[in-house]
Amino acid sequence: MDTIHKDKYLKSPPNLPDYSKAVEGFHYDKHISELVWFSPRHINAAYNAITKNALSDRKNKVALYYVDENESVNKYTFLDLELSSNKLGNFLKAIGCNRGDRVFIFLPRVPELYISFIGILKIGAIAGTMFSAFGPQAIFDRLSQSEAKFLITNSEMATRLKSIRNKLPNLKRILLIDKGLMTEIDKYSDVLNTTETDMTDDAFMLYTSGTTGKPKGIVHQHKAIIHEYLTAKWVLDIKDSDIYWCTADPGWVTGIAYEILGSWACGSSTVVFPGRFSADGWYRIIEKLKVTVWYTAPTAIRMLASQGLTKVKKYDLSSLRFLASVGEPLNPEPIRWGLKAFNLPFHDNYWQTETGGIVIANYAALPIKPGSMGKPFPGIKPHIIAESGDEVGVNKVGNLTLEPNWPSLMKKVWRRPKKYQSYFLYSKDLKKKLYITGDLAYKDRDGYYWFVGRADDVIKTAGERVGPFEVESALVAHEAVVEAGVIGKPDPMRGEIIKAFVVLKPTFKQSDKLKEELSMFVKKNLAGHAYPREIEFVDHLPKTRSGKIMRRILKAKELGLPIGDTSTLEEY
Ligand code: WT7
Repeated sequence: MDTIHKDKYLKSPPNLPDYSKAVEGFHYDKHISELVWFSPRHINAAYNAITKNALSDRKNKVALYYVDENESVNKYTFLDLELSSNKLGNFLKAIGCNRGDRVFIFLPRVPELYISFIGILKIGAIAGTMFSAFGPQAIFDRLSQSEAKFLITNSEMATRLKSIRNKLPNLKRILLIDKGLMTEIDKYSDVLNTTETDMTDDAFMLYTSGTTGKPKGIVHQHKAIIHEYLTAKWVLDIKDSDIYWCTADPGWVTGIAYEILGSWACGSSTVVFPGRFSADGWYRIIEKLKVTVWYTAPTAIRMLASQGLTKVKKYDLSSLRFLASVGEPLNPEPIRWGLKAFNLPFHDNYWQTETGGIVIANYAALPIKPGSMGKPFPGIKPHIIAESGDEVGVNKVGNLTLEPNWPSLMKKVWRRPKKYQSYFLYSKDLKKKLYITGDLAYKDRDGYYWFVGRADDVIKTAGERVGPFEVESALVAHEAVVEAGVIGKPDPMRGEIIKAFVVLKPTFKQSDKLKEELSMFVKKNLAGHAYPREIEFVDHLPKTRSGKIMRRILKAKELGLPIGDTSTLEEY
C-alpha cells in the first residue's frame, strides 16, 4: 500500500507541525514548564491531570463524559473530579493509608475508578490497577506480591476474593463502592493538600506478563506524566477543544497514560464507555458526543471492519479528525478500511507497559507508510541490536532497544531487582546501556520502524499481553492435567489466540467436553481474556534436557515451519 500523504486528511494544524525540527532541538527541560511543579524536583501527576484544570478556566468544563452500559451520558467536570478525589484521599488517610502504601483498584470502568486513581496519587500512595476480568488466581498474585493494603472494588467482584481473602495478611480493608464507600467519603473534607511528591516517587503500578514466572509489577514514577503529557499532545494531537475517546481499560497502561494522566493534562474532555463491544454502540457514541480524537486497537478496528461499510455510513461521524491505534501490529488492511469508513488514516503507535508512554509513532504531520509503527518520539533513541550487542544496519531485523533516557520508563520492577536488571544490556559497540523491549524490528532507509514479532514467547491476544506460563500454571491446577504448553496462534481477527497443548492423566479421557471444561477453568480462575480458545491433547511436550517446555517447537509445528535448532531438546 502506498504512503499516505497527510495534507489531504488534516483538518486543523497539528500540535507538532514539524517533526524534524522537534527532533533536532529536543529536550524535556524545554517542556517541563508546561506542567505544574511544587519545586524543581517535586511534581504530582494527579495534580497535573486534574487539580491544575480545576484551578483554571477549565474548572467547569466536562472532564469525563461517562457513557454507561445503557448509553446514557453522565458528565463530570474537572471540579467534580477534583472534589471527589480530595474526599477519597482524605478518607484513605483517615483509615491509615500512608505515603507509599499500595492501594489496588479492581473495578470495571466506572467513574469511581478514575476518582480513586486520582485520589490515591494525590496522597502519595501507589495506585495499582487490575482488569475486571481477572479471576482469583490473577488477583491473588497481584495483591500478595505487592502487599496491597487496601482494595477498592464492588460487592459483585469482591466475591472472587472469597477463596483468597485469608491468604492476604497485608490487605487491611476491602472498600466496596456500592456498599457505602461513596457516602462514607462524603463525610470527609473536599479540601486536600496534594502530597508534594518527589518526581521519582512511585505513583502507579501494573502487573504484566513475561515469558517465565509470575507477572511482574511494573512501577512508574510521578515524573512519567511529563512524557505522557507530551506524547498525548504531539502524537495523539490532543487539544483543549477535543472530545477524546480512548477505548482502553485502566487495567492496561493505555487506560492510565492516555485516559487519566497524559490526556487530562492536555485539558481535553475524555469519553469513557465500559460496555461491551458493538459496532453500532461505538458509532452512536462518536455521533452523539461528537468525538474528535479516537484512540483504539487493531482488533477493535478489524471487528468494526468485519461489520462492513454500510453500517458506518448510517452514522454522522464527521466530528472525527484524528485516529490512532496501539497494542499490536496494525496491518495495512485496517488502515485501508479506516480511510474508506472515516476518510481518515489510523495512526499506529508503539509502546509497552514498561515504557509508560508512546515511544515510536506516526504523527499528524508526517506521511504514513501503512504497516510501519512510524518514527521515534523526539528524544527517544532506538537501536536495532544483534544478539552480539552490535547495532545492525538499515533494513536488518534485530532486537529493538531504546536508550533509557525518558521520564516514563519504568522505575523498577516491584521487589524484583534482578528482573529489572534483565531489561538492560550494555552495547560495547555503542558504548551505551540500552533498554531491551523484547520485540524484533527493523528500521528502513527513511527512518521508519517496522515491527516484526516478539523475541520471546509472550502472547498478544486482542492487544492483551498474556504470559504462556500463567496459562500453563492455570491449566495444571486442573485435576485432569499433567502438563501443558501454551503458544500464541496467528488469528485474522485477534492477532493471536491462545492455544494450549495438554497432556492428560491416564485416567482422564480426551473429549471435546473436557476441552471446554479446561478452557472455562482457566477463564474463571485466571482471567476472562487469558484462556485457551483452542486445546489439543498430546502424549508429551517437547522439552529441553533441563525440563523446560520448548514452546518454540510447539509453535513451529503448529504453523508448519522448520523446527530450527534442537540441540538442547531431550529425546523426543
Ligand atoms: C507489547 C506491549 C501498547 C501499549 C500498552 C501496553 C506489542 C504494542 C504495538 C504496535 C506492534 C505492538 C509489542 C509490545 N505492541 N504496540 N503498534 N505494533 N506491536 O502494552 O501490554 O505492555 O504490550 O505489545 O509486542 O512489546 P503491553
